[in-house]
Amino acid sequence: MKLVSYTLLCSLIAIILPSTRQNELTDWIESKGGWAHLSVGPVNEGGLRGTLATRDIAEGDTLAYIPKELVIQFGAPGNNRPPENAARLLGRQRREAGWHAAFLPYWRSLPALGSPTLFCKELFTERHIALLQDPGMEWVVREEIATAVDIYNGTSTWWQRLLGLAPPVSLHLNLPKGAEHDVTWEEFAHTTCLVGAYAFGCRGGWGGSQVCMVPLLDMINHAHPDTANTVVHQDTRNGSYGCTAIKNITAGQEVTHTYSATALRSDYSLLHYGFVLEMERPLLAGNDHIARFEYSDDDLYSQHERLLSHEEAQRLNDILKSFPTTEEEDLQLLRESSDKLDGREREIIRFRIQRKRALRQMPLLGIKNKFEMINKELIAEIELPERVNKPLPVS
Ligand SMILES: *[C@@H]1O[C@H](CO)[C@@H](O)[C@H](O)[C@H]1NC(C)=O
Ligand SMILES: *[C@@H]1O[C@H](CO)[C@@H](O)[C@H](O)[C@H]1NC(C)=O
Ligand SMILES: *[C@@H]1O[C@H](CO)[C@@H](O)[C@H](O)[C@H]1NC(C)=O
Repeated sequence: MKLVSYTLLCSLIAIILPSTRQNELTDWIESKGGWAHLSVGPVNEGGLRGTLATRDIAEGDTLAYIPKELVIQFGAPGNNRPPENAARLLGRQRREAGWHAAFLPYWRSLPALGSPTLFCKELFTERHIALLQDPGMEWVVREEIATAVDIYNGTSTWWQRLLGLAPPVSLHLNLPKGAEHDVTWEEFAHTTCLVGAYAFGCRGGWGGSQVCMVPLLDMINHAHPDTANTVVHQDTRNGSYGCTAIKNITAGQEVTHTYSATALRSDYSLLHYGFVLEMERPLLAGNDHIARFEYSDDDLYSQHERLLSHEEAQRLNDILKSFPTTEEEDLQLLRESSDKLDGREREIIRFRIQRKRALRQMPLLGIKNKFEMINKELIAEIELPERVNKPLPVS
């Protein structure tokens, strides 16, 4: 999966990426029994990379098939976080030279180390963190970086891991003897971003949740459910992946799917994938929701409209007023300082605009729709997940 955002650099990359490189991936997939009516290339004027249909596809037809042999599956239920999976992936790449070589066309299709098109929590700098304007999100970023550093430096003892005082996975334990110093922090952070943003959640052999990297299908861009034209699905019996049209698609049209309902939230998509989807009516950030949650909680989310009261509208308005900049000032910053901001910084400011827009619109939408109700019983009905009760740290 990839960035839905547009920097000049991004466009240069897409343009200079030789087309032989792109064919290499589809040729390789075909040589292994898969197929795809897809090509990789720029999908907008900014040069954003994505996938395009190579012929007309009718709704309901499959446009790509990726056999199980090309799906990289790893992780273990309970310790499946991106830095843990990055340690597993880097370890396997170094232990199994033949396997690594067999997947070269796939590795080459992923953003290279240092590529400005990749952005996630591990790549946040202090400047990025400050731009967030949110102590709760800052805490999420710092915690993720601290976990990644722990796994990278891996100095914990077995009993610390056993007692849950240190992550159960460490990079050093995954690397072959003698290769302990082969992986730089930059490579580790980069790989963490890749497995966080490009991998799919999938079902493990015993049904537990795992992580799968799926060549080519991970280059399909994310879109809102109203406009997405495919779904990506795993066959749970044989482990293969397919991509099926949910609308008629014409040759040359961009192919998209909705990564998850959670990825429609700008706070989540920014921290996880490094992009923000432009929406007329954006969703509230998890931390602005009445139940305050950091990550994925789609069920909790959908109840928000039922909870809207005048008190709630006031609460949202108070959050809106608490930011150091207004929506207009953010828009102006984006327009006037674009030469001083890199693509990642621009994305964070785009996030701030979407977040403020959601806070501004939600009360209007809700009250207009007569969602005025006493919310106390409804709040009592909701089962709040554990982390919601944790007070947010103040920076
Ligand atoms: C890993 O540990 C070493 C020594 O303990 C330290 O110098 C280095 O900065 C650490 N690396 C990271 C990425 O924190
Ligand atoms: C796996 O299942 C899909 C249907 O979901 C099918 O199209 C494909 O041929 C199967 N692959 C193998 C190797 O059996
Ligand atoms: C999709 O294409 C089929 C023919 O291939 C056509 O019958 C159908 O009406 C089209 N659907 C839409 C929504 O355009």
